[in-house]
Amino acid sequence: MNIIKVKDYQEMSNRASMHLAEKIQKLDKPVIGLATGSTPEGMYQNLIEKNNKGELSFKDVTTFNLDEYVGLEKEDPNSYYFYMMDKFFNHIDVPKANVHLPNGAADDLEKECRDYEKLISDAGYVDVQVLGIGGNGHIAFNEPGTPFSSRTHVIDLDESTREANARFFNSMEEVPKQAITMGIETIMESKEIILLISGEKKADALARLIENEETSEDFPASVLRKHENVTIIADEAAMAKV
Ligand code: GLP
Repeated sequence: MNIIKVKDYQEMSNRASMHLAEKIQKLDKPVIGLATGSTPEGMYQNLIEKNNKGELSFKDVTTFNLDEYVGLEKEDPNSYYFYMMDKFFNHIDVPKANVHLPNGAADDLEKECRDYEKLISDAGYVDVQVLGIGGNGHIAFNEPGTPFSSRTHVIDLDESTREANARFFNSMEEVPKQAITMGIETIMESKEIILLISGEKKADALARLIENEETSEDFPASVLRKHENVTIIADEAAMAKV
């Protein structure tokens, strides 16, 4: 794993957006994997600026998001669909037909998972996947204990994950208990992975990832050590315990 240490959140966002922009310009029909959460918001803002200045086009880009809450409709302000439209897709020139998120409100969730996998393989798999990390080491919504061989599936969220994400909801009761998430094997099939880590709240997770943890399903992010093209962009606060 290649580790780039940067000063702060702003620099992490700049590096990530520059890297993605270069890839998008280089590849013929780029397939980009995207994440939600607070971490990538600055990167999205930078990419919007590049697009609005005419420096970068998303016309030929296809995107796949990592995950979505089960039971939330697209119009729900807490759905990841809403987040992606609001914070990114509505402000750039990507054709809406090219953007994909799992549908957490589907009647048949198992079928939704299978269909999502097929869409990814039909697109030729993800060229660059952007990832964040949960405090418990989850990637996408793959909680500790998820098999490394998992494909897109429905997961029961850990209480610690629901608590961490409760800040976006009115109350803990409103936080969904399940999500659809790309599987770990699905993520590992991406040709390249960029993991963004910012802030002291992630310092323990980053130290576990880099230094003192076995590669094990108990700490999902540890699987990334087996991937041959992973870049971690982490700020000083996140690197505090390394
Ligand atoms: C969420 C998302 C992940 C994200 C992680 C960290 O639950 N499902 O994709 O990477 O947790 O979120 P944040 O960036 O807000 O810390």
